[in-house]
Amino acid sequence: MELSKSLYSGKKGWLRLQEIISDYNPSGIYILVDENTFKYCLPVLLEKCACITEACIINIPSGEANKTVASIEKIWQMLTVGKAMRSSLLLCLGGGVITDIGGFAAATFKRGMDFVHIPTTVLAMVDAAIGGKTGINLDSLKNQVGVFAQPKSVFVFTEFLETLPERQKLSGYAEMLKHALTDSQDHFADLLGLNSPMNACIETAILRSAAVKIEVVEQDPSEGGIRKVLNFGHTIGHAIEAFSQKNDTDPLSHGEAVAIGLICESYISSKMFGLDRNNLAKISAHVKLHFKHYTIAAGTVDELLALMFHDKKNTDNTQLNFSLINNVGNPVWDKFPGENLIRKSLKYYMDIWKVI
Ligand SMILES: NC(=O)c1ccc[n+]([C@@H]2O[C@H](COP(=O)([O-])OP(=O)(O)OC[C@H]3O[C@@H](n4cnc5c(N)ncnc54)[C@H](O)[C@@H]3O)[C@@H](O)[C@H]2O)c1
Ligand SMILES: [Zn+2]
Repeated sequence: MELSKSLYSGKKGWLRLQEIISDYNPSGIYILVDENTFKYCLPVLLEKCACITEACIINIPSGEANKTVASIEKIWQMLTVGKAMRSSLLLCLGGGVITDIGGFAAATFKRGMDFVHIPTTVLAMVDAAIGGKTGINLDSLKNQVGVFAQPKSVFVFTEFLETLPERQKLSGYAEMLKHALTDSQDHFADLLGLNSPMNACIETAILRSAAVKIEVVEQDPSEGGIRKVLNFGHTIGHAIEAFSQKNDTDPLSHGEAVAIGLICESYISSKMFGLDRNNLAKISAHVKLHFKHYTIAAGTVDELLALMFHDKKNTDNTQLNFSLINNVGNPVWDKFPGENLIRKSLKYYMDIWKVI
């Protein structure tokens, strides 16, 4: 299936969604929501799609802490009680937690029923709903269990973002910035030209960002090579996210940590490859303007490095593997900057806050 052809938006999207729904038995429609999308997004969906007459609503608690086997069990049970069949359809209406859990529940229920994603966060629209990765966490291990399964379609309706808290928008924006940096100088300039992450929550910008992920995933569906470019900013970002979760009362969001990772890994890109000083300065200034300052004390750098080594995605146990950029729009992967340069990049992040 060509992913680009299965993504719909705007008015055409609402029509296409109604068409898809009407192909199913009215009693065969199930809608997965969390408590927030139940409150803010479900009424919009039901108003726009009057053809949904008898859907069974499956409501689970929100948040990463609920991306668990218990939630999956609840969904399977509700599908069973509702007499869902392989010919039924699950609509996953929510952020990345709902698209990850819903996709996994649907892909495994009776060996697979159809599902569509209707992402309601920026992060899910440009990232989580695209690419066919589904799954849940197991204890403290993120995305430990899951399958690759493609939704029948993905629908991007930016009106859902009206109720999304600003901090959530900012978190998704970090992925938009990553997509622009790996895509092209034009994309990066246009995104910065919008002047703020809140202005970037518009359909054209979101679709352009989603298209970057679609293009990469289509070239490498099983993550053997080029899909690794999507990891730019994430080797250091994930370590900072994990550190913050462990140590802070109000931990950084994924995107806030990735934004720091983007600065550090851009610095590494400038030292190892051709990323020019002008672009490095632009990236740093933009993140500094829109994301809050996070203190990385000199004494915590060893722990951050240990966390990077701990993340199996990053290492063959001897060297840390990075996805970087040769320049804006020219990503490279399987690069090994070495500990010294990683330490310097964290110092660079701290130093830019000292410049007035
Ligand atoms: N499958 C993939 O390829 C992939 C890629 C990136 C991230 N992910 C996963 O995505 C998850 C993070 O996604 P997320 O940031 O969307 O988190 P999320 O799904 O937890 O949503 C964030 C919060 O916003 C609320 N919310 C959602 N839509 C809303 C709306 N329109 N109005 C008001 N509130 C709303 C949710 O209830 C939740 O409290 C992680 O579990 C991550 O692993 C998956
Ligand atoms: Zn990410």
